[in-house]
Amino acid sequence: MIDGCGRTIDHLRLSLTDHCNLACRYCVPNNASPCGQMIDEDFAFELVRWLSTHHGIHHLRLTGGEPLLYPPLLRLIKRLATIASLREITLTTNGQALEQQAAPLADGGLSRLNVSLDSLDAERFARVTRGGTIERTLRGIEAAIEAGLTPVKINVVAQKSFNDDEIADIAQWGLLRGCVVRFLEVMPIGPLAHVAHEHLVPASEILDALSERFTLTAISGSIGQPATDYAVTGKCIRGVVGVIAPTTRPFCNRCRRIRITSSGRIVACVHDGTSLGLRKFWDGKKLHIQGANEVLLRAILAKPEEGPRQQTLSMVTLGG
Ligand code: 5AD
Repeated sequence: MIDGCGRTIDHLRLSLTDHCNLACRYCVPNNASPCGQMIDEDFAFELVRWLSTHHGIHHLRLTGGEPLLYPPLLRLIKRLATIASLREITLTTNGQALEQQAAPLADGGLSRLNVSLDSLDAERFARVTRGGTIERTLRGIEAAIEAGLTPVKINVVAQKSFNDDEIADIAQWGLLRGCVVRFLEVMPIGPLAHVAHEHLVPASEILDALSERFTLTAISGSIGQPATDYAVTGKCIRGVVGVIAPTTRPFCNRCRRIRITSSGRIVACVHDGTSLGLRKFWDGKKLHIQGANEVLLRAILAKPEEGPRQQTLSMVTLGG
């Protein structure tokens, strides 16, 4: 699938629910918790089958909200794993409910996962997540490694005066466990739509903090992907860290993604947030391909070359 700017679109992020058991300050708005929308399991399966077999979607990431709160998750993954044209099924989670689910999900066909971890300090973790228990996420990460969902990727949203003093420590913690640790610049999305600059730790500062402790070598091939990855070499430690810098090193020209929300709407650009509904083409049993194809085409052709950088919809709604 090629969009109006010549970009190949082969990645889908499918939000299974906008419900989350945490409420990270940069993700969930203060006043408005999402309503707990769940996508119908058969609809979700048919959407992926349609997009993968007819439209070249080869990479699927299940998101939310928190996808581990979606009751039929395991059964859905087992069904998705039968779609031959799908090369990988990954998932982004906060890890709070991961310990018990990691092994069955791996057996069911999940390829890998990303876990959000913004601090190693229990009190800071509870503060940024508004109530999360760090031990649960840490145990979840260990269980995912044990289950072979590797490399486990750790997402760290770098936030000024919050965790910018922990960057090398979090990297070290992850590297020692064989994880790929990715640092993200905050995005002007949701609660940060108008104030992201106040919290921004630019990629250059993230790299400075990492370079103080590790020797980094950019991995060619990764440069220009959403994440720029670096090989870490040292006497006692090695592995991969990465930086995702949508603000200071934007990568819209290489974007290969579309999203579908838990209410069945296609979002072609997370920064733009325009969405088109697909739910009306689902009759409870069958996806009506002709109408769905027309809406997909409209969404893809309207995907902007570069999204406006001020998005009041939040990630829980747009699909992580
Ligand atoms: N800025 C950066 N990343 C965000 N996420 C959600 N909201 C934001 C934001 N405003 C990302 C984080 C988290 C994932 C689920 O969504 O990377 O790990």
